[in-house]
Amino acid sequence: MSTCSRGAGFLITAVFMLLVIQPGMAGSQQAAANGSRVSRPWNNNSLTPVQRANLLIKQMTLDEKIAIVHGAPLKPTKAYVGYVPPNPRLGIPAITLADGRAGVGNHARDVTLLPAPIAVASSWDIGLINEYGKVLGQEQWAKGTNVELGPSIDVVRVPEWGRTFESYGEDPYFNGQMAIAEIKGIQSQGPIADANMYLTMNQEKNRFKEDSIVDERTLREIYLPPFEASIRDGHVGTVMCAYVKTNGIYSCENPFLLNDMLRKDLHFDGWIMSDWGAVHSTVASVKGGLDQEMPDDKFYGEALKKAVIGGQVSMSDLDEHVRNILVAMFRQGLFDKKQPGSWTASVRSPEHDAFSRTVAEQGTVLLKNDHDILPLSETASIVVIGVAGGNDPKVEGAGSSAVVAPYKVSPLDGIRNRVGAKARTTYADGNDLDVVAKMAHDADVAIVFVHTDESEGGDRPDLSLPGNQDQLISAVARVNKNTIVVLDTGGPVLMPWIDEVAGVIEAWYPGQEDGNAIAAVLYGDVNPSAKLTLTFPRSADGIPTAQVERWPGVNGLSTYSEKLNVGYRWYDATNTQPLFPFGFGLSYTTFKLSDLVAKPTKLESTIQHMPRRVLVRLNVTNTGVREGAEVVQAYVAQPAGNGEPPHQLRGFAKVQLKARETKSVSILLDERSFSAYDSSLHRWISPNGIYEVLVGTSSRDLPLHSQIAVEGGAANALTQGR
Ligand code: NOJ
Repeated sequence: MSTCSRGAGFLITAVFMLLVIQPGMAGSQQAAANGSRVSRPWNNNSLTPVQRANLLIKQMTLDEKIAIVHGAPLKPTKAYVGYVPPNPRLGIPAITLADGRAGVGNHARDVTLLPAPIAVASSWDIGLINEYGKVLGQEQWAKGTNVELGPSIDVVRVPEWGRTFESYGEDPYFNGQMAIAEIKGIQSQGPIADANMYLTMNQEKNRFKEDSIVDERTLREIYLPPFEASIRDGHVGTVMCAYVKTNGIYSCENPFLLNDMLRKDLHFDGWIMSDWGAVHSTVASVKGGLDQEMPDDKFYGEALKKAVIGGQVSMSDLDEHVRNILVAMFRQGLFDKKQPGSWTASVRSPEHDAFSRTVAEQGTVLLKNDHDILPLSETASIVVIGVAGGNDPKVEGAGSSAVVAPYKVSPLDGIRNRVGAKARTTYADGNDLDVVAKMAHDADVAIVFVHTDESEGGDRPDLSLPGNQDQLISAVARVNKNTIVVLDTGGPVLMPWIDEVAGVIEAWYPGQEDGNAIAAVLYGDVNPSAKLTLTFPRSADGIPTAQVERWPGVNGLSTYSEKLNVGYRWYDATNTQPLFPFGFGLSYTTFKLSDLVAKPTKLESTIQHMPRRVLVRLNVTNTGVREGAEVVQAYVAQPAGNGEPPHQLRGFAKVQLKARETKSVSILLDERSFSAYDSSLHRWISPNGIYEVLVGTSSRDLPLHSQIAVEGGAANALTQGR
């Protein structure tokens, strides 16, 4: 290469770098770029985030404070979904916000499409979801994003909810554990994570006006815990307040939700941003606890400035909101590190493609496997049926979490790649039932891929598979007894054909590696080990929110009259038989649980006036002939007088076991396992009585029991029962 061309190359690189470090450019760089002389004591990272924020606030003008508490358009580029411009005078970096529940969203190109959050959650694998968070965080950071708008952690109350696929499931403790792991993963890679959507965001129908009528105990015990876990153990930097109202007040101006629960009770010191367009006022929102309006300045721009000048909002109130934003930014190191990313960068890698496949494999739940029809023999002739099996694989849900898939491996291609020339594989889209029946009759095995189209902005009308998919399955099953149904859905569906088919697999929305992952499960390269994180009901009238006043509500009110009995709690409390219970999932091997011991640990409680924690120990044996993993689940049944649901998940552990291997498993049950919220005392209490620890492999298969006696009121330790 000649000197001249090398010089030109350098120039191009330099120009490119200037482009890519916008708009997430680090503060010191921007100061240098501006030749600013303002001394910046807040850049001293040996000070605490609060000290640094206070030093900076002292230097900020009213306009500069207003500028950071609302979003602004990012011109001319369309990158990111939210943006706060940098402040070059003071070296405050831009805030760049992007969606990303299953990959970088907002039409970003060259990113990895991971399986939906409901799929990774179904693995019950804390390490896997932590890695999922890392991949998301890494790709966002390399795209120049410094606030990732995820995870979505709301408890799924309504199974028809259009955003079920974006969530983890129906149990508050479970969602909290998943949230901690994912948030830690995201934040370890650079961006601040955002726990959304706070609170009672449990339906899409009428979401801009819906009012959730819910009692305090239910709020504290069911809907708050995932956020509590995100703050206390996940150290999440931001929380997004939701569109809906809770007990008559919009989330983003609700002092009980924001000031009392988030700030006072949970000691949240990060920032509360609004969902996009979820702000309805200026002064009420400032006083209610909202720090930042997104994505624009309708209420927190000129209107807020006027309110400060006019004295309706004090400068110290404004400072507090600015401080919350800055503290989270300082804590995450946004002032200290250079962010190299750019929205146009390609952030994919072969490792991330492989990871997407691993998640899909680990998240796939085997629901039915009559006569061990699965795993399939490689030489069995196969007919793949259904549009989701062929040219239009259903790999993700829609809405703000949508990701532009770099590619999609269809199930048909995945199966053909897997079996090669060893077996005949044919395909029918399923539109002509006569054609399908003929092809199904002629094949050894028929695999029907069915799907739902779930999206933010709307709930499913009911839990039935849309279109003629139920008829399609029955038509195939009539002519082929080896019919397997693969569900590409974001949540539960009704299965009127369940007794007609030999196998059922829930593959969720499996991401870009769909076909490769499902082929690996079908042929046994991967032994399924995932478990449902939601109950699958037997019938439409058998679900907790079947009454219209519960969902979608009457006159804009959704009444949470099922109270604590959400998800499996309701099925247990009402003795309703589910089709597949929470925590259920089959394997190609079998397991046995034995030798349960549950006793209080030497560890004192971490919460005042709470009993000691309880350590559960048991043995798990793989009784089959191939390696596999089992999810051991520990539930606690409280004394009847406590008014709690029959039993609730309080701990779990996933164990990998070789054929015939036995391992000892330990699960630590925390103080909350033995307590209930008392709304009149406004605190958690731990009433005397016998608490039962139930351990097993689903919420309806709990063979091992042990009792714990709590004595002496709130402050006493536990003793070992029988
Ligand atoms: C609305 C969604 O509810 C939220 O999850 C998302 O982050 C914002 N839009 C931005 O796209």
